[in-house]
Amino acid sequence: MNPIPYEVHEPDILTLRAAELLARIVIEAVNARGAAHIAISGGSTPRPLFKLLATPQWQERIPWPHTHIWWVDERCVPPDDPNSNYGAAYALLLQHLPVVITHRIRGEESPWQAAYLYEQELVEGFNLWVGAMPRFDLILLGMGEDGHTASLFPGTLALSEREHRVTVGRAPTPPRQRVTLTLPVLNHGAHVIFLATGAKKGPALTTIFHEGGGDPPLPASLVWPDDGCLLWLLDDDAARAADLPLWQHCSQR
Ligand code: 6PG
Repeated sequence: MNPIPYEVHEPDILTLRAAELLARIVIEAVNARGAAHIAISGGSTPRPLFKLLATPQWQERIPWPHTHIWWVDERCVPPDDPNSNYGAAYALLLQHLPVVITHRIRGEESPWQAAYLYEQELVEGFNLWVGAMPRFDLILLGMGEDGHTASLFPGTLALSEREHRVTVGRAPTPPRQRVTLTLPVLNHGAHVIFLATGAKKGPALTTIFHEGGGDPPLPASLVWPDDGCLLWLLDDDAARAADLPLWQHCSQR
């Protein structure tokens, strides 16, 4: 059983650690290839990270003009809708950056049209051959209480999509229709970092860290990069709720 790499930090340190890792990954990619491609998730967990990255000292640390920001998923709403992942990232981070390259999922389009357009942008942005998956330098994921990640929800067709890079997911709560990267893309990332905080994530984390992911496996448990690095960043409450030692950095999967 492969150990799942994780770290436990109190909330402010967790945010700092995530920012440090993001900065190192982006700088390394820009130095090596002239550009970095990162995919960010929505939800509430990454908000402190976006706020920190928007501060002047962090703006100076990251070569944003050479950084392509993509989205892991998007709700099928316009960018100015309170539910928009792009809208949240813009308000907290993007509007504060002098230059940044964004690849927004067009939530205002019909779901399948938005998925098609986003997949086309991935093909062009990564110069992909037929069937090839984009290799993000960093994919930043969250996890819902039900163990979903991106907009890959338990028991949905989107979770089983293996050919397309982008598909339409269906959430149990509104806004129900969402455009999402598929599991093959998540598992092709060079670095995949989960941010999971709060005791409410405990049951899903218990299933993932102590019970082999569940049967059927929870979507977040299926993320295991085939040629990349995985790291779960947990806060104390989430780790405690999942009975994960606060000092250990690995757990038997
Ligand atoms: C979204 C996210 C989603 C999120 C989880 C966790 O569009 O909501 O991409 O996958 O990461 O639902 O959400 P919280 O961070 O709010 O707990």
